Amino acid sequence: MTALQLPDYREQSTQVKERFDALKNRPVELSVNALGKIFHGKKDVESLRDINLAVHNREFLIVLGASGCGKSTLMRILAGLETPSEGVALLQDQEIQGPGPDRGMVFQSYTLFPWLSAKQNVMFGLEQTVGKGKETESEALQWLDFVGLAKFADSYPHQLSGGMKQRVAIARALANRPRILLMDEPFGALDAQSRAQMQSLLLQIWSKIDITIIFITHDLDEAVYLSDRILVLKPHPGRIAELIENPVERPRSSDQFLEPKFLAIKQRLEELIHPKLSEPEAPVFRMTQVGNEVE
Ligand SMILES: Nc1ncnc2c1ncn2[C@@H]1O[C@H](COP(=O)(O)OP(=O)(O)OP(=O)(O)O)[C@@H](O)[C@H]1O
Ligand SMILES: [Mg+2]
Repeated sequence: MTALQLPDYREQSTQVKERFDALKNRPVELSVNALGKIFHGKKDVESLRDINLAVHNREFLIVLGASGCGKSTLMRILAGLETPSEGVALLQDQEIQGPGPDRGMVFQSYTLFPWLSAKQNVMFGLEQTVGKGKETESEALQWLDFVGLAKFADSYPHQLSGGMKQRVAIARALANRPRILLMDEPFGALDAQSRAQMQSLLLQIWSKIDITIIFITHDLDEAVYLSDRILVLKPHPGRIAELIENPVERPRSSDQFLEPKFLAIKQRLEELIHPKLSEPEAPVFRMTQVGNEVE
């Protein structure tokens, strides 16, 4: 069987080049310059080294890389929950120095308050910024409607499925009108079908709202399906391996999963994340018997 001939992922058509030129002409929303992070302890861990990046207004940036390569550390620095050891992270040219309403966060572990209903969870952040009142309540309901959960406004988190909980978490994050949505494997705990639904919902939201998204995932299909660009990190210490411009046309649909361009990027991501290792030699006393081999 001959191998499938895939296009070179770096050779971009004129339309795709134009798309990325336009993206890079948009104002820089967030940038990191020579960013490094070392965790000090019994043994120091260098989590990130020399990360340089500019994320543009309304860009959808995916961050991908093997476990332990510093993705969450980077996200926590952008969220203002961790301070860099070197370099700076800037949000609209202002150094990030702690959390702020300009950044909304959605994480893999469900972070809703279990004692509050879906509506009250969404209202929680709004009450801090806008204040309490009927308007806050009706705005919270509008956000729940926007993520398809109007009927579940009075349900409590334990009465909702994983996908529904993440919808509430997205509504809650968006209600505070952040400039940037920081998402750390937000759909990682969902089953394949809910995950696919959430991906298309997120693309719909992103197309309608002025928001820049930074999204961490381990899933290559998810990375290619959602992204404008894909930042691939390599581990020990976490460094940039490659920043890939995704040529797959928008609007996206699941039909594109088998397009040559889609497969070419996926293959490249696979090579970057799981480089071929030399075959390990089994200890001699555990060698298999002739006739006992597995395929
Ligand atoms: N608070 C901490 N103290 C000490 N070391 C830490 C801390 N947080 C992260 N690290 C270390 O930094 C490195 C990167 O961790 P990080 O959680 O950012 O990786 P990740 O890419 O998000 O991994 P995963 O894909 O498994 O979520 C790891 O070696 C980890 O042990
Ligand atoms: Mg992580």
